[in-house]
Amino acid sequence: MANDLFNSFMTGPDENGRFGDFGGRFVSETLMPLILELEEQYEIAKTDETFWAEMHDLWTHYVGRPSPLYFAERLTDKLGGAKVYMKRDELNHTGAHKINNVLGQIILARRMGKKRIIAETGAGQHGVATATVCAKFGLKCVVYMGAHDVERQAPNVFRMRLLGAEIIPVTSGRGTLKDAMNDALRDWVTNVRDTFYCIGTVAGPHPYPAMVRDFQSIIGKEVREQMTEAEGRLPDTVIAAIGGGSNAMGLFYPFLDDKEVGIIGVEAGGKGVNAKMEHCASLTGGRPGVLHGNRTYLLQDDDGQILEGFSISAGLDYPGIGPEHAWLHDIGRAEYVSITDKEALAAFQVSCELEGIIPALEPSHALAHVMKIAPDLPKDHIICMNMCGRGDKDIFTVAKALGFEMGEFA
Ligand SMILES: Cc1ncc(COP(=O)(O)O)c(C=O)c1O
Repeated sequence: MANDLFNSFMTGPDENGRFGDFGGRFVSETLMPLILELEEQYEIAKTDETFWAEMHDLWTHYVGRPSPLYFAERLTDKLGGAKVYMKRDELNHTGAHKINNVLGQIILARRMGKKRIIAETGAGQHGVATATVCAKFGLKCVVYMGAHDVERQAPNVFRMRLLGAEIIPVTSGRGTLKDAMNDALRDWVTNVRDTFYCIGTVAGPHPYPAMVRDFQSIIGKEVREQMTEAEGRLPDTVIAAIGGGSNAMGLFYPFLDDKEVGIIGVEAGGKGVNAKMEHCASLTGGRPGVLHGNRTYLLQDDDGQILEGFSISAGLDYPGIGPEHAWLHDIGRAEYVSITDKEALAAFQVSCELEGIIPALEPSHALAHVMKIAPDLPKDHIICMNMCGRGDKDIFTVAKALGFEMGEFA
């Protein structure tokens, strides 16, 4: 791979869309022309200054970037060790990092003359971001969402409706993100001419994992600048939660070649990484296979059937992980750990009570790992975690988990 030649972790994937043994494009013949057209158009856009000028204009004036880098002082004092910073991507328009990537893909779709945008969504944040940008540009938007997720992320379903999107509940499988992505891929093959598939994470066939990473890398680029301004140096450790892995790749990528910066991805440990697979920790508890057009680590049974996985967090409820993470894991450039529902809920409450920040359940996993390791690290160790989403969408799930009845919150 080119990486060996340049001694860099930032040159992947290769021309076949491979990160080491992972990635690629395992798709049907009918999908291949679409994928190749997308790759060609993205390659052109990537080096086109006018494309990035439009992105930066919208990131600044529509999304509200740069998002702040915030020193969590009370949390740091309580933990008594490393200094904890939060990258505040939950303050973006629509409440999560997802819009960073959606803008890129929809600007590309417009350049390609596509008028109908389809998306899959789990927690609903990618669906809301896609519906939002479609409304802004007057594009038709169809969102596939697992029926189970439609139920547990009701506020986001209504937001998408208000924004004019059509929501298609998916009842196959367990009715979660994996199933929504299957149906979205099917739609794309059927509606080849006018439709653009806007994928919400660093998964899918090449070029999606690299393209989504490139769009999300604004997170890590900003952290580099902001941390250098705040502390005069880079962080010692960067930490992010992983569903498919897009917010994490966005934070990690600009630091891959800074070997002194530790990188930790946090998977959803659900009820614990156990033989019953009541978790969504694909790297910690899965093995390599092919899903949604790429080769990566997956939760699967002995026959290679994909297992559903489990997490309290709809956004982490994906039985796979982006192929670049699989590669970073195998070569040892990043460490991957898991956090249980219970630990994430505890971190959720600490963030509310100590910092006045109601986080989404997804970054609560990253925060829980920060809370685990910070006390044993020296006071001059700097951790930056990605607060990649706000908790509005999760308050009913959390209320239920904490034993509150609807309407009895006082
Ligand atoms: C707030 C939030 N964080 C994280 C994720 C997980 O996605 P990814 O791993 O691609 O960042 C989601 C997915 O819906 C999300 O809504």
